[in-house]
Amino acid sequence: MQSVLEKNAEQKNEAIIELSKVSTRFGSHVVHDEIDLDVRRAEIFALIGGSGSGKSTLLREMILLHRPDAGSIKVLGNDLGNLRDDEALALRQRWGVMFQHGGLFGSLTVKENIGLPLREHTGLSDTLIDEIAAWKLDMAGLPSEVGAQYPSELSGGMMKRASLARALALDPELLFLDEPTAGLDPVSADGVDQLVLTLRELFGLTIVMITHDLDLLWQVADRVAVLAKGKVQGVGSMSELSKIDNPDIRQFFDGPRGRTAQEQAKEQPQKTPAAEAQPGKPIARPSSKPK
Ligand SMILES: Nc1ncnc2c1ncn2[C@@H]1O[C@H](COP(=O)(O)OP(=O)(O)OP(=O)(O)O)[C@@H](O)[C@H]1O
Ligand SMILES: [Mg+2]
Repeated sequence: MQSVLEKNAEQKNEAIIELSKVSTRFGSHVVHDEIDLDVRRAEIFALIGGSGSGKSTLLREMILLHRPDAGSIKVLGNDLGNLRDDEALALRQRWGVMFQHGGLFGSLTVKENIGLPLREHTGLSDTLIDEIAAWKLDMAGLPSEVGAQYPSELSGGMMKRASLARALALDPELLFLDEPTAGLDPVSADGVDQLVLTLRELFGLTIVMITHDLDLLWQVADRVAVLAKGKVQGVGSMSELSKIDNPDIRQFFDGPRGRTAQEQAKEQPQKTPAAEAQPGKPIARPSSKPK
């Protein structure tokens, strides 16, 4: 019989997302050329690559917003190329997405925005939806007053958190984050790093993120895939990737920014334990130190 430990280890290695020979073209422009990729349960997985390398398109394909020209994508055991409408609807409720620019409705308050997926997909009462929205706000590290505000009244960091609160509304198993720290000051970005770690530690979420943020990559990501020239050029921890001699990978490690992030990652303990990770409590961000 399988021991609990063996079962846990097996579940941890279970692939939650499986891409097999995924190819995407726009006209004659080949963006993905037979890409294979796995994302495992409860890992923080990052997609990196130069501008136009196809990161956002790949993410859109994982969340049923774009169909690849060839290959297969399985998410939570479902083949995305072969779903009935009711299965697609059910699957969409099992993931949350934080879009790069927040994607909140400007005419709704933050609380109404967070409650929207619950109003669409559940028959819960307004009172209960408000309570859940307040709880998600707190999970995302925002004070309750923010619930009554409109998106235009929020700072960039608060907007990202509000958008995260909405992504968490339906208790997803899987979270997709597009550039979660882009445009934030170092302290706000640290808060988001910490929040991502906390969500994984406390709720066992599997997280897929697109980011250019070297600190987020070194401090938070478990595995990173580098996209370039239509292919995955390498997959591994940042430390593993740093040893690969491939110019498309080297660009993330060479140059002053790459070297500084790498040096500072060595000085810091890699992951902060869940017990210390609190939303809103910033960890020291290496690049925020005065040079
Ligand atoms: N709907 C579309 N129609 C035509 N071309 C598209 C479409 N969507 C994306 N592309 C092209 O596909 C390529 C990959 O785009 P994508 O947005 O996935 O890149 P990216 O890696 O996310 O880049 P960035 O870092 O700049 O966001 C680009 O050359 C883009 O112009
Ligand atoms: Mg993009």
